[in-house]
Amino acid sequence: MTSSNTLLLLGSGAREHALAEKLTRDGATVLVLPGNAGIPNSHPEVNPLDFEAVQAFARAHAARLIVVGPEAPLAAGIADFFAGSDIRVFGPTRSAARLESSKVWSKEFMRRHGVATAQAWAFRSDNIAAARAKAAELGGHVVVKYDGLAAGKGVYVCASPVEAEAAFDDLQSSYSGWFSFLLEEKLAGPEISIIGLTDGHEIKLLATSQDHKQLLADDRGPNTGGMGAYCPVPFADANVLAAIRRDIIDPTLRGIRHEQFEFRGFLYFGIMLTPTGPKLLEYNVRLGDPEAEVLLPALDSSLLTLIEATLDSSLARQGVRQRPGAFVGVVLASGGYPAPKFPTGFPITGLDNLPPEVRAYHGATRRDETGQIVTNGGRVLVLSAHGQDLEEATARAYEACARVTFQDAYFRPDIAQRPAPVLTASVVN
Ligand code: AMP
Ligand code: GLY
Repeated sequence: MTSSNTLLLLGSGAREHALAEKLTRDGATVLVLPGNAGIPNSHPEVNPLDFEAVQAFARAHAARLIVVGPEAPLAAGIADFFAGSDIRVFGPTRSAARLESSKVWSKEFMRRHGVATAQAWAFRSDNIAAARAKAAELGGHVVVKYDGLAAGKGVYVCASPVEAEAAFDDLQSSYSGWFSFLLEEKLAGPEISIIGLTDGHEIKLLATSQDHKQLLADDRGPNTGGMGAYCPVPFADANVLAAIRRDIIDPTLRGIRHEQFEFRGFLYFGIMLTPTGPKLLEYNVRLGDPEAEVLLPALDSSLLTLIEATLDSSLARQGVRQRPGAFVGVVLASGGYPAPKFPTGFPITGLDNLPPEVRAYHGATRRDETGQIVTNGGRVLVLSAHGQDLEEATARAYEACARVTFQDAYFRPDIAQRPAPVLTASVVN
């Protein structure tokens, strides 16, 4: 335990609301920079990318620990900024954060260390012709990925040369100057998210979860930041997890040690269970959103203790206990999301008197001049419910969606209701 139990939490979404709630339950005094209207102790006056301001705020409040929610402060080097100081940062250095911030670099890391992943080819924006030829050779069954951080955009899953062409056009109109991108073979299979806390030696895994990235039911429509999540995933049994450990997690930890990265934080593996075994689609160097909004209510152990053990290199001595049952989180989004522009500022009703099994995590909300909570962006709230099983948790989450509302509210009707996949033998052996 640090000498003061005050910590700073950086970020402003529903993930940070869930983190703040959990760390408070674990006994910390949590100050959130900048936070939002629904997160207690939010400080909108502090910009989490202004490290000098964060440092001054930490000193003024005797905070010795900074927990980072989103990727941006990590990619900008907040762990490097505080290295060697008495203020500790839970999150990797800028160099290690390239596992998320550069898709090309991350793919090279996977290759260097034998992490199972899709085949891929890197191109620069001045050589789209070569990418076009490769996409044609693969019949257009490719995934095009912009190299840098793109907030859930910048990935185009294509099914024909025409779609690949449209992806190249969109990349060129969305990003100016030179940029790099990846062309990947398109894989198929169910996806799962696996998130752990690691110091590069040990990793302690949270429950398995599944996101729902597309806007519309049955995984149709444009990609979003995530429209809902649940945990644990029934088909991710011990055999599946053993294959993922062997082919993805263990080689990753060996790579982190080999490259001598300072990595102490959350590590997220986005995995597809393909007919030829589990394959890593991406790393994130943080908790997923909306995965965090189900994983943290599900976590019975103290997250604060796990974070401190990660920083102290004593993770091996920690256990991770989960609460029994299932957890389902449904995102309430503004009508029009994920388009670049849509109306906001609508009053939100129904937040009072939710049943005790339901949590309302605020993502994009603010208070208007009269003090009323109104919508303030795309993913407005996550309604996260606990139940004895997935069916009960799902029913509770949707009952809450019927009560909490605002003008043009949209939610996916099918979170946690995908049919159980049939896994081929090669995934589980
Ligand atoms: P990423 O940001 O790399 O995780 O990609 C976002 C989403 O695109 C993933 O959750 C998958 O649904 C899809 N995707 C990414 N890579 C592939 C791939 N190689 N094959 C099929 N789908 C993919
Ligand atoms: N839910 C996926 C992510 O946070 O990137």
